[in-house]
Amino acid sequence: MQKQIIKIDVKAAKADVTKLKVDCLALGVFSDAKDSDTLNILDKKLDGAISSVRKIGDFKAKTNSCIVVYTHGKIAAERILLVGFGEKSKATMDTFRRAAAKAAYDAVGMGAKTLAVAMHYDEPKTDYEKLGQIAAEAIHFGAYRYDEFLTNGNNGRVDKFSASIVSDNQAIVNKLSDGVKVGQLIGSAQNYSRTLCNRPANYVYPQQLASEAKKMAAANGLGCTIIDDKKMAQLGMNAILAVGKGAINKPRMIILKHKAKGRARNSEPIALVGKAITFDTGGISLKPGADMHEMKMDMTGGAAVLMTMQIIAKLKLPLNVYGIICAAENRPDAGSYLPGDIITTYSGKTIEILNTDAEGRVVLSDGLEQARRLGCKTAVDVATLTGACVVALGKYKAGLFSNDDKLSERLKAAASDADEPLWQMPYGQEYIDEVKGKIADLKNIGSRWGGACNGAAFIGEFAKDIAWAHLDIAGKTDICDSMKSYTQPGSIGFGVRLLTSFLMNY
Ligand code: BES
Ligand code: ZN
Ligand code: MN
Repeated sequence: MQKQIIKIDVKAAKADVTKLKVDCLALGVFSDAKDSDTLNILDKKLDGAISSVRKIGDFKAKTNSCIVVYTHGKIAAERILLVGFGEKSKATMDTFRRAAAKAAYDAVGMGAKTLAVAMHYDEPKTDYEKLGQIAAEAIHFGAYRYDEFLTNGNNGRVDKFSASIVSDNQAIVNKLSDGVKVGQLIGSAQNYSRTLCNRPANYVYPQQLASEAKKMAAANGLGCTIIDDKKMAQLGMNAILAVGKGAINKPRMIILKHKAKGRARNSEPIALVGKAITFDTGGISLKPGADMHEMKMDMTGGAAVLMTMQIIAKLKLPLNVYGIICAAENRPDAGSYLPGDIITTYSGKTIEILNTDAEGRVVLSDGLEQARRLGCKTAVDVATLTGACVVALGKYKAGLFSNDDKLSERLKAAASDADEPLWQMPYGQEYIDEVKGKIADLKNIGSRWGGACNGAAFIGEFAKDIAWAHLDIAGKTDICDSMKSYTQPGSIGFGVRLLTSFLMNY
């Protein structure tokens, strides 16, 4: 790595926005509501500059729209950023989340070092703690830039970006502040997950991910066990071993443990199981060359599990949770596993490999068996599993599959709370039958149709009697079109906010 990526810091503060000395002062504006007192005061101080951009129609406060008003020294802030909220009746927490991300994205784009986001609408019913959390997460999300390998200076980008969420009401600031602390933890962890996914496979490989996990665990009081390839062979973790066989960088299973300090809210531990294929060439069933480089992000599920474990440790959640990360590199080589190979997995079930590119489900089979052996009665696996899921849902939502209604409801609630959308897909006997084998217990692919469901069904066979859910996040490795206006291309660290919300509300 050549240089540090942008440092981002968010806090809540009591302030009079007319006196605030910042590079950029952002205010969200509803398209149809009466302007706030703050907006009117600022407009007066700026001799009508705000009302005039609205009068000539340059800013209609539609969602995703944004305009800069220069202050010419009439107030302490260098510029005002008006961000559209759209219609008030349609606004949700997601509206504020995206607007805050947009403000941070544009502020960093303009080279601003400091940003203040004003909470200027007086809405007594607002949950300011939640809003503070969301705004902090969103500022991290929008301000993020991945440029650690660009050697031409910093391209004009600031080294450090400091944002504050401001109100003139101390009681509101106190509530915002509690939320901002949580949002700051989540936002920075999510951004680090993005960095891990954006980094190429010559920097992020199983052993490196394991040492990264070890350091993170030590710094945050998490237990950490690394199972290397030798130990895997002793234990009979032949599935993850097989996937990694063709690579010089041998596989690792990373097991992180978070223990509740006092009484835990859950009786048996919960497992988060992440697919971390640090690069997926497809193996002997080689992928086509176009866009293959994107498969450096085939570790998005594992990165989400790693960073969620960091957050819950920092938040000291009263839960017992295991994070199990199945890290391997899938390569064609003289030593690679082959189509037709039959593998005895850690669970004892045998699987026939019909396509070495269906490797995610193979590594996860050993991951789920690990969760069972650790006594987990609930397991959520997160994996960039199938292109078929992207065909089914597009790039806007991830697929949810589950054998347990209560668990899927919890995950759906977390998805909408975190603005990381999930859509439930079918799980059941027809799909399980697709992956039943003739010469081994299971085969690692089903028929051509319903590929995402067949992949899920395969994994479900290793969950056995556990309450299990599978998140197929293949479409969520990088940004979708609806995110273009408020963050840069590349990894979005999907799953960190979702899993965190799932556990916080457990
Ligand atoms: N990592 C891929 C899935 C993927 C595709 C992730 C696109 C992100 C974007 C996975 O390992 C894979 O190759 N799946 C195969 C399964 C098939 C062989 C049954 C696929 O989707 O083609
Ligand atoms: Zn893969
Ligand atoms: Mn693959």
